[in-house]
Amino acid sequence: MAQLATIPGNAMGIQNRSSLKNQFYLPLKRWLLLNFRLDDTYFRKQPDRIWLNTQLYPRLAKLEQGRILFVGCAYYTWESLKLFNRGVDLVTVDIDENNVIWGGKKHLVASILDIDNFVAPASFDIVLLNGVFGHGVDTREMQEQTYKALHNILKPDGMLLVGWNNDLIPDPTELQICKELFYKSEYEGLPQRTSFQNSTHVMDFLRAKKV
Ligand SMILES: C[S@@+](CC[C@H](N)C(=O)[O-])C[C@H]1O[C@@H](n2cnc3c(N)ncnc32)[C@H](O)[C@@H]1O
Repeated sequence: MAQLATIPGNAMGIQNRSSLKNQFYLPLKRWLLLNFRLDDTYFRKQPDRIWLNTQLYPRLAKLEQGRILFVGCAYYTWESLKLFNRGVDLVTVDIDENNVIWGGKKHLVASILDIDNFVAPASFDIVLLNGVFGHGVDTREMQEQTYKALHNILKPDGMLLVGWNNDLIPDPTELQICKELFYKSEYEGLPQRTSFQNSTHVMDFLRAKKV
């Protein structure tokens, strides 16, 4: 059962942003973990993460408005959330309630497979789906359901980033439902597809078709 951890913008939900837990306990626990327990050095050195940090995120950081869904939150993605402009309505989502601590101010504990049950249709400009296909959303059926749900919540021509590993799953952009609901596109001067030397990671930009 999906659970709303904080306010998901204009989506359905409950507000508990001002709770003591959110204001004091989570930030303190996060600070302690990041400074004394966890080390993101490995991830920061990966070519896909370098691309995110030097190519994609600087472009997203220039956006002054719009609604973005960031899927899959981990300690090594926490810093990335700070890049977004205050004018951007950033919503994060993760199926694992333990990852609430790495989500943004508006965080959903929910599965991306049925995210369209919890946020308004055609309300997002961008969905960042990196490292989720093949890391939980593994089967063709799950990926097909995810594409349908994401198409429902994206505005027409809204951008979907799909980051995946070619040693874990077949090319998810080759699925029929992907071709029916999305078209391949560049993004702000970045090519439609980027792959990396000595890495199995692939980044694809898609846009929601008007259907
Ligand atoms: C490899 S990790 C982090 C990916 C992160 N987005 C990135 O850019 O590296 C994958 C994350 O996806 C989450 N996840 C897996 N299946 C999911 C689902 N069905 N719905 C939402 N999140 C899911 C996991 O809990 C985990 O936090």
